[in-house]
Amino acid sequence: MSFRIAPSILSANFAKLGEEVANVIASGADWVHVDVMDNHYVPNLTIGPLVCEAIRPCTTAPIDVHLMVKPVDRIVPDFAKAGANIITFHPDASDHVDRTLGLIRDCGCQAGLVFNPATPLNWMDYVMDKLDVVLIMSVNPGFGGQTFIPSALDKLREARAKIDAYTARSGRQIRLEIDGGVKVDNIAEIARAGADTFVAGSAVFGAGKDSDPQRYNSVLGSLRAALAGV
Ligand code: DX5
Ligand code: ZN
Repeated sequence: MSFRIAPSILSANFAKLGEEVANVIASGADWVHVDVMDNHYVPNLTIGPLVCEAIRPCTTAPIDVHLMVKPVDRIVPDFAKAGANIITFHPDASDHVDRTLGLIRDCGCQAGLVFNPATPLNWMDYVMDKLDVVLIMSVNPGFGGQTFIPSALDKLREARAKIDAYTARSGRQIRLEIDGGVKVDNIAEIARAGADTFVAGSAVFGAGKDSDPQRYNSVLGSLRAALAGV
């Protein structure tokens, strides 16, 4: 599967969010990663479906909604209506993981599970047929700008083996996404461990001058160049 880069708007300028989304996609990003935090499942509060709906007209790129909320199910249809294409959630935040995955798909979105640094991967074993994405957290969820936790590399290798075995028997692909502390200098190593989709918040939105509409070209070019060597 080809590599996808998904800038997290958590580190964007919220006063110019529509412009930021349009600029980052025009600069070569693939997906828009939207971090939804509820000050309950994680100790931070961000944005809800209204903001997803507001940025939807700013791009045709897939909107990848990462739910860090508990409970999960109540808010899923709202994000689907607001234009989300992919919705992922933390299995430990849902009472009925299989049901939540089904709900996301019934709403017309792709579905995925997110694994915190200490969450075991076996949550995915009996729901592979309902997964479109597996997201490995390489930081504890809640904040941008944290340092990549190295044990995520072993976890990626383990997840890659599970996904490849599933694809070999079913013919169906599942994306393997990484989130947290992804930078130009570690993205190649992360890709070699098996990731094909890369969330990057501070690395992308922290780059370049505010006045330059092409300001994300250079960092996205560097991320792609690092991936080209894998
Ligand atoms: C953390 C979020 C991440 C975060 C990534 O809870 O899920 O998407 O914004 O930010 P960086 O790339 O700065 O680690
Ligand atoms: Zn995220």
